[in-house]
Amino acid sequence: MMPNEPHILVVDDDPAVGKVLSAILGQAAMQSTQATGADEALAALARYPFDLVISDVRMPGLDGLSLMRRVVSEWPEVPVILLTGHGTIPLAVEAMRSGAADFMTKPFDREEVLFAVRKALAIRRELGGAGDSEPDTDTVSESALMRDVMDLVRRAAPSNSNVLLRGETGTGKSFLAREIHRLSPRHEGPFVTVVCAALPEPLIESELFGHEKGAFTGAATRKPGRVEMARGGTLLFDEIGEISPSLQVKLLRLLQDRDYERVGGTETLHADVRFIAATNTDLEAAVSDGVFRADLYYRLNVVPISLPPLRERPGELRRLIARFFEEQAKRAGKPSMQLAEDAVSSLTAHSWPGNLRELQNFLERLVVLADGPVVQRRDVEREKVRLPAFAEPSPAAGGGSLLDRRAETERVAVVEALQKSANNRTLAARLLGVSRRSLYNKLREHGLE
Ligand SMILES: Nc1ncnc2c1ncn2[C@@H]1O[C@H](COP(=O)(O)OP(=O)(O)O)[C@@H](O)[C@H]1O
Ligand SMILES: [Mg+2]
Repeated sequence: MMPNEPHILVVDDDPAVGKVLSAILGQAAMQSTQATGADEALAALARYPFDLVISDVRMPGLDGLSLMRRVVSEWPEVPVILLTGHGTIPLAVEAMRSGAADFMTKPFDREEVLFAVRKALAIRRELGGAGDSEPDTDTVSESALMRDVMDLVRRAAPSNSNVLLRGETGTGKSFLAREIHRLSPRHEGPFVTVVCAALPEPLIESELFGHEKGAFTGAATRKPGRVEMARGGTLLFDEIGEISPSLQVKLLRLLQDRDYERVGGTETLHADVRFIAATNTDLEAAVSDGVFRADLYYRLNVVPISLPPLRERPGELRRLIARFFEEQAKRAGKPSMQLAEDAVSSLTAHSWPGNLRELQNFLERLVVLADGPVVQRRDVEREKVRLPAFAEPSPAAGGGSLLDRRAETERVAVVEALQKSANNRTLAARLLGVSRRSLYNKLREHGLE
């Protein structure tokens, strides 16, 4: 085991869930130990200094929330991420308020798990605990379009100006935000992300600005917010198009005067942070519709950088395929696996509406499912059928079970709401009469992310 590999305690009464999580963590060079109940977990924590706990909420005996409260009081330096099969906003709010580092709803995906884990470990490192070290990936930028983008990145990085990254999902906005941080004078400081749409409304403010002891029921200790944690470094507001009007006002003040207060606090704090925002929504339309403040828009949009979709970067496709394939093969412990030339041409023939992220996920699936040493064209073709762009005609059109029809109707409603709202998920959720979190779950369920 590497000395710096984080070691994570995974607690779930269902050993299958534990196994999946351990595999995901293992592929990202993290160690894990499984426990099937809270008592076993507490015993393990007493024996070994774990870096993080991931726990199911519903378990026989002591449940995940109670386990978390024990961990918070006995091992306050160990962050806890809660997993729930029945994600309800009140439960999430309660969990976060009583000290959970994060919560996830099942079924979860690899990216989501790793994102939450890395975030929790980074925060722990910020607070003085041990942590992981993330390898630097270098950048593929073979097309003229991307060379312009990278040129802009290099020129913007040394300044302290706000950057607004635009582009469809999966085009590399988060990646470039890190790149800007890495090339900036703040590179030794922390890089912190706030996913504006991921947190329920009542939590965002304390998540961002922190809170004082006793600010609300359950606020047992003072907690620093993301702005404070990013001190000396860079803060990324991801999915900035999704924030509420009241948060827009608070962000405006933060960006304009760099001033803010912790929730329940009176002391005015000053933010020593470089701000980057990212969005895939049409902010200009949101401004003219009156749902996004124009003054905030101008503050954010000092250096605008637009990432082209992958279909406009054909020159990069081969390099990206080679790179992602190699990465995934290594990850899966099949480093010598090859990709046949005709398989590559089948891949380049696709338009990849989900961009780099979709390509990366697709290659991961190919690598995992492959049984021979070489991935052939037919393997690619077989998997391609499952991509949304190749989807079969809707079951609602020609019969299908009640469940199928219901799912299809739901999918159509979600797609329509997204179209009506210019891809703004907050608006789309409002149109559908559901919470943002359930919209997120639906997007995932229907492969619309
Ligand atoms: N220029 C690039 N070179 C190599 N990998 C990249 C590049 N841009 C993005 N990626 C990878 O592609 C995936 C999707 O990028 P991401 O930044 O998450 O997109 P977005 O934030 O726009 O949804 C990530 O795994 C990222 O590491
Ligand atoms: Mg992103």
